[in-house]
Amino acid sequence: MKKRIFSGAQPTGELHIGNYLGALKNWVKLQDEYDAFYCIVNLHAITVPQDPKVLRKKTLDLARIYLAAGVNPEKSTIFIQSDVAEHAELAWVLNCVARMGELERMTQFKDKSKGNAARASVGLFDYPVLMVSDILLYQTDLVPVGQDQKQHLELTRDLAERFNRDFGETFVIPDPYIPPVGAKILSLKDPSKKMSKSDENLNASIFLLDDADTITRKIKKAVTDSGTDIKFDEERPAVTNLLTIYQLMSGKTSEECEAHFEGKGYGDFKRELAETVVEYMRPFQEKIKEYDDDELSKILKSGAEKAREIASKTLKDVYEKMGIK
Ligand code: TYM
Repeated sequence: MKKRIFSGAQPTGELHIGNYLGALKNWVKLQDEYDAFYCIVNLHAITVPQDPKVLRKKTLDLARIYLAAGVNPEKSTIFIQSDVAEHAELAWVLNCVARMGELERMTQFKDKSKGNAARASVGLFDYPVLMVSDILLYQTDLVPVGQDQKQHLELTRDLAERFNRDFGETFVIPDPYIPPVGAKILSLKDPSKKMSKSDENLNASIFLLDDADTITRKIKKAVTDSGTDIKFDEERPAVTNLLTIYQLMSGKTSEECEAHFEGKGYGDFKRELAETVVEYMRPFQEKIKEYDDDELSKILKSGAEKAREIASKTLKDVYEKMGIK
């Protein structure tokens, strides 16, 4: 039996190369070896206000993005979270297992509520528990994510262990899969922050659907550090970030990247990086036009059916163990 992976992304904002390099790229790589479930987490999206029309469109657009990135529906199960009601049901159960103190420690809530917890939705506070449910419903072994989700994965393991201890073996304890390179792609404008869908400065991110001119312009305007060497160096996070993007998209090793740019200036480096990004994104950008709505809804419907089969078994077991059914 293949081991199982589960991951997901929110259908909000525009996906950027951080999402691609930190998560999607690995989803594609891992789908041959694992029984893969990739979810469009629209119930997570509504933890902050959304325009209903836009959310509906973005949900389908994200499915298209998964496919164009190379997630293969013959190998992987692609589905929309709200099509499998067990996600919300298990989240309620796990709300009764999670503790306030645990959720209060979550740094993403602190960031997203901008320190004003009183005005945040209860859903935003509870966001990690829904994520825990997503993962545990499928008896997941491995969860490929970027660095920013690490704390949520730790919570997942804690809640699974607690439930197993209190009610008997029920959940597989999942491991995170955080790539050694690319788990935290930084903002092009401020290397103290990660590249983020919700950044108001559109020049801080390269979006997956940016055209060649936009990509080139954004890279040209990206901040750099003092000094001139094009080298990986923790003290120079801006250049290191650009080199990391280059490394992942060129397929070169870090040594090869440094050797390649030895003696060259920022101008040459940025020109070549822009070309590399444009070429890397080209097949994705061409493929995204291929899927029409009918084909997409077939894939999502059969994905949801397959997901529901597994999710309903887990939930039934949970209810029986708790004395609900
Ligand atoms: P989301 O939609 O914010 O991001 C999707 C994936 O992209 C990764 N990521 C990054 N990786 C590298 N550099 C960056 N700058 C960067 N920004 C984002 C994220 O780590 C993520 O892997 N909570 C999740 C969605 C989710 C989920 C799940 C994931 C819901 N349930 C269950 C895994 C398993 C989120 O908001 O991802």
